Amino acid sequence: MINDLFYYSKKILSDFEINEIKNYILENENNIKSLGKDNYTGTSENSLTGAHAFFNYLHTKTIGDDILLPKLKKIIKELNAEPPVIIQCWANIFRNGEGIAVHRHGNMRQKFLSGNLFISGNTKPGTTYYTGPDHCPKPVDIKNVPGVLNIFPSHNMHGVKENATEETRISMAIDIIPYTDENHYKKIDMIYQKQPRRYMKLYNLD
Ligand SMILES: [Fe+2]
Repeated sequence: MINDLFYYSKKILSDFEINEIKNYILENENNIKSLGKDNYTGTSENSLTGAHAFFNYLHTKTIGDDILLPKLKKIIKELNAEPPVIIQCWANIFRNGEGIAVHRHGNMRQKFLSGNLFISGNTKPGTTYYTGPDHCPKPVDIKNVPGVLNIFPSHNMHGVKENATEETRISMAIDIIPYTDENHYKKIDMIYQKQPRRYMKLYNLD
């Protein structure tokens, strides 16, 4: 850990890359939402977050091949996660009045990595993370910075308060499940066999 919250926290995107990702997410928002029903209850109805199981942005040329995949491979190597790894990558758009309730991606038995990549829009109060002992974690608001990727343990609680501004807030979320998180990896691998577009499986990090 580099601090109480993160395994990794760095700006990984140039202004050009931020713009490319932002435009792709906005231009494809409705098509991606139409891929399936939003059953996720932590966001407003019919949210892009609710399409997280239907579309993985790493399978796109613009976001995956040209921008994120080469960077993610390096970062996963840096974090000593052993391949094969399975990655899920989705996007969130929170307009005025929208946010996401406190949640976590994994549980205490799972040892995978979760990431938040802030793209653009309202940066305050930021993302709320919870830190401290499990029986009384304390909330801390971390201001968002465009292009910064924060990676944290998947059992960490986090959320985003309602966007009080007119600025559309765009971010991406990433779950990285390494082979070493054995039970969870096997479970996800079985889903991957049926829904290969939902995940990306990397057999090596070169
Ligand atoms: Fe999350």
